[in-house]
Amino acid sequence: MARDFSTVGVVGLGTMGAGIVEVFARNGIDVVAVEISEPALERGRATLAGSTDRAVAKGKLAAADRDALHERVHFAVGLDALHSVDLVIEAVPEHLDLKQRIFAELDRVCRPETILATNTSSLSVTEISVATSRPNQVIGIHFFNPAPVMKLVEVVRTVVTSPEVVADVEALCARLGKVDVTINDRAGFIANALLFGYLNHAVGMFESHYATREDIDAAMKLGCGLPMGPLALMDLIGLDTAYEILDTMYRRGGRDRRHAPVPLLKQMVTAGLLGRKSGRGFYTYERPGSPKVVPDETTPLATDTALADGSRAITKVGIVGSGTMATGIIEVFAKAGYEVVSVTRGVEKSAAVCEAVKTSLNKGVVRGKLAEDDRDAALGRITWSATLDHLADVDLVVEAVIEELSVKKALFASLDEICKPGVVLATTTSSLPVIDVAMATQRPADVVGLHFFNPAPVMPLVEVVRTIRTSPETTATARAVCAALGKTGVVCGDRSGFIVNALLFPYLNDAVKMLEASYSTADDIDHAMKLGCGYPMGPFELLDVVGLDVSLAIQRELYLELREPGFAPAPLLEHLVTAGYLGRKTRRGFRDHSHR
Ligand SMILES: NC(=O)c1ccc[n+]([C@@H]2O[C@H](COP(=O)([O-])OP(=O)(O)OC[C@H]3O[C@@H](n4cnc5c(N)ncnc54)[C@H](O)[C@@H]3O)[C@@H](O)[C@H]2O)c1
Repeated sequence: MARDFSTVGVVGLGTMGAGIVEVFARNGIDVVAVEISEPALERGRATLAGSTDRAVAKGKLAAADRDALHERVHFAVGLDALHSVDLVIEAVPEHLDLKQRIFAELDRVCRPETILATNTSSLSVTEISVATSRPNQVIGIHFFNPAPVMKLVEVVRTVVTSPEVVADVEALCARLGKVDVTINDRAGFIANALLFGYLNHAVGMFESHYATREDIDAAMKLGCGLPMGPLALMDLIGLDTAYEILDTMYRRGGRDRRHAPVPLLKQMVTAGLLGRKSGRGFYTYERPGSPKVVPDETTPLATDTALADGSRAITKVGIVGSGTMATGIIEVFAKAGYEVVSVTRGVEKSAAVCEAVKTSLNKGVVRGKLAEDDRDAALGRITWSATLDHLADVDLVVEAVIEELSVKKALFASLDEICKPGVVLATTTSSLPVIDVAMATQRPADVVGLHFFNPAPVMPLVEVVRTIRTSPETTATARAVCAALGKTGVVCGDRSGFIVNALLFPYLNDAVKMLEASYSTADDIDHAMKLGCGYPMGPFELLDVVGLDVSLAIQRELYLELREPGFAPAPLLEHLVTAGYLGRKTRRGFRDHSHR
């Protein structure tokens, strides 16, 4: 018969512990909530009250239920209060010696049948368990932040955890309305093993001034649909906790350099900049514990001061190319009111692109998103041409031809001859160095990358890539154009993968390596990222949509440019591509799509 958990204990009422208390009490379970001192207990009590008050204010919890919830929680200082609970979840700071001491003490205080669980993110549950005389009753119950919101729980069994304990904890998770994935004891389990390399990489980008905090976060939110950017997430996790998790993962997980905490993290922790909980981390918050970001000295000024930054006025835009991206970009500019000159390699190609743009605009009309007049006006703003000479008087050229350096260089050399001085020359390349293209002209200061996402009319993000020769005016102009298109332009350096692909694809590749190592299944890994981190798609779903061949090519580029051993493409990814399993487009990738 399944165990009845009527009273549970929670040790440590910080970021996670206070949320875990709320999860249990909301589900009708009595909680003994324990801290190390009176002031810490008060903080925990205030966090719980703040969270439940917010839930009431948002209409997600009735006031009477909140009061009942609080009545179920008994607060105490010291572990002795846990003598008669059925389960304890420990959520103290991520230090092995501290956790071992607490488990030894819990072993002494608690009844022999009590299950002892840790919420550790990266430490070995096995090492924690051997500090007790009951390692078979020790288990990992890893909640996600914020615990009341995130659906996922990783249940971590060690080689000695008894199967009954695992089954009882799984049943408890279901009772709490959570979805669990049960896995073995490995550094970072599923979600953090895939998440923290990415977070650390984003901190590295920020540290090296590759892009601003706002731009890094906006890129991942708008480019990948993530609920938060990586730096805002680091602030939520807590930089001290994040540092410890990275450090442990580095030491336990094969000394992968990508987990070696970026030095800036240690400096911020030492300086007391711990993220939301201390009121300041990568961002500044209204007060400690508040989710509200307030402006500080690095907040960019609102960009309504048109042209004050030296950006040039753009009215006429040339777009070169006849593929998917060019077609979408023509539509975007024409809809935004720019005069557009489309240049393709021939009259038939121009006719085809024209047809495609018309079809897409018509769809907008049918869906009620575009008025017929606006469609006609947009089409009226486009001139169709098959010769570059028609670009002599444009203010901006956007190149979206085939992804081959020789072709792009030849094109930019021609543009250099044809275009008037002061024109901004932009390439949409997603993988070639923009500086190579820029140096094909005599005016590299005017060359910039404008990396649109597919489909261009829909995706809200554009990466503005500045090379070491791009002038500030050119960058400012490119950014202003993005804003005029109704898109967010994020500025970054000229490195493989820019921001989004550089942060996204190594994570996808890591997921493939995890699958290859048989640590978990594609379904559970997808679940973990969706329910634990709020990602719109799991890594294997996304790989099948993007295409395994495309993903492999991007990953190879990153590996070749950065020489990071951890970026080496997963052999399984290479094999699937070789076998012709490219994802949805071939009806088979990581999953079989032939029946869908
Ligand atoms: N922050 C996250 O996003 C997150 C997510 C999942 C799991 N975790 C894990 O949860 C655990 C707690 O992390 P956190 O971020 O909540 O840390 P935190 O620093 O916010 O809170 C830790 C709390 O433990 C208390 N504490 C310290 N020593 C104690 C003792 N001897 N007895 C009782 N209480 C004690 C502290 O006073 C503090 O309130 C860590 O193992 C962490 O890896 C964190």
